[in-house]
Amino acid sequence: MTEFQFPSGFLWGSATSAHQVEGNNSNNDWWAWEQAGRVKEPSGRACEQYQRFEGDFDLAKELHHNAHRFSIEWSRIEPRFGERDEAAIAHYRQLVAALRARGLEPIVTLHHFTNPQWLLAKGGWASPKVVDLFARYTRWMVEALGEVRYWLTINEPLVYANMHYLDGTGPPGARNVGQGFLVIEHLARAHAAAYRVIHDHARASGREVMVSFAHHTQPFLPCKPWWIGDRLIAEETQRVYNHRMLETLTDGSLRLPGRPIARIQEAANTLDFLGFNYYGRIFLHLGFSGFSQWLGARCSTRHHREVIERNALDWDVYPPGIYDVLHWAKPYRRPVLITENGICTHDDTQRERFITRHVQWVARAVQEGLHVIGYLYWSLLDNFEWAEGYGPRFGLIEMDYKTQQRTIRPSARRFAEICRINRVPLAE
Ligand code: GCO
Repeated sequence: MTEFQFPSGFLWGSATSAHQVEGNNSNNDWWAWEQAGRVKEPSGRACEQYQRFEGDFDLAKELHHNAHRFSIEWSRIEPRFGERDEAAIAHYRQLVAALRARGLEPIVTLHHFTNPQWLLAKGGWASPKVVDLFARYTRWMVEALGEVRYWLTINEPLVYANMHYLDGTGPPGARNVGQGFLVIEHLARAHAAAYRVIHDHARASGREVMVSFAHHTQPFLPCKPWWIGDRLIAEETQRVYNHRMLETLTDGSLRLPGRPIARIQEAANTLDFLGFNYYGRIFLHLGFSGFSQWLGARCSTRHHREVIERNALDWDVYPPGIYDVLHWAKPYRRPVLITENGICTHDDTQRERFITRHVQWVARAVQEGLHVIGYLYWSLLDNFEWAEGYGPRFGLIEMDYKTQQRTIRPSARRFAEICRINRVPLAE
């Protein structure tokens, strides 16, 4: 069987987010949302990674990872408006030092869905004030963690806007299209402001940085390929969802449905690489089912003949899709980092197949000359899956939430071998 050798220095590892693994993030808007009973179960102590990070990073090293993506919890850094928590800032400095001591490249996400509770009182992401507030928080963190090379400003801005301002399944639970588009504009402006803060600091300290955001990319297909209505909505959503934010942050023009083109010149050229989160395809039919489907209503993967595999949340599993999205990146002429790719399943052999097949498709894209710089599996640990609670298990490492015991899954060992030799057998 032929094997593909990835370029030396290829980043292999996994990703987490603060609220999903740290535990007791009681100062943010998701914690309040959970206490109000808006989710299946509260995050509570999660994986207690705020205290247990050294042990978790030992496991990542044992699994031959050479990179690790984590997020910083803004509500810990700034628990009250304008007040810095120096102990929390020192904690994240310890995280970066612990990763480097184990040979793991830190990849830092500044915003991963959660906000300090005081921000919502100031209008949250629907208020233009958020741009300067996010820039100040970014400046505090880049001054504290200046030696970090890879920065992701915001995780999945479109998913954030969708979940929190269109679908209403996250705080503040708005279902308002106008607010949703305003939030997307502020997220783009906040990313651009953070990009400049990070690069200004890097220039002043003579360091090199790579800044992007984590973009949720997915192929949209028609439920009924023979029906023009479904084909049109899938093609339009494919274009708007997958490319508009990338266009905005490369050419500075924000195009939102039904709104005049906004010129955000400061947003132009604020991507040093592309961070792609890829999970599977979405099937749409023309119809209005809530704001979040961009006028397209999702049809269940259960009834689509093209869907031959699903995860525990009934999401489509489609490894060739990661190859497709990597090819979409070509026009942007920037390197791509897979910032998330994972499966929730109770069958670890399915997880092992999932990882191997997606890495094989990444290998094919690299073989064809696409500039991919790394692959991060979601997630290192089973963790808090937002409104779904603790049911879905994505982890390379199984969590016993009662005892906090970590158990490395066989699939993690398989992935570890790929990381160690930097090679993968190519599918026949
Ligand atoms: C997201 C986030 C993660 C999820 C992961 C699995 O896309 O929602 O980046 O927080 O846990 O994608 O759904």
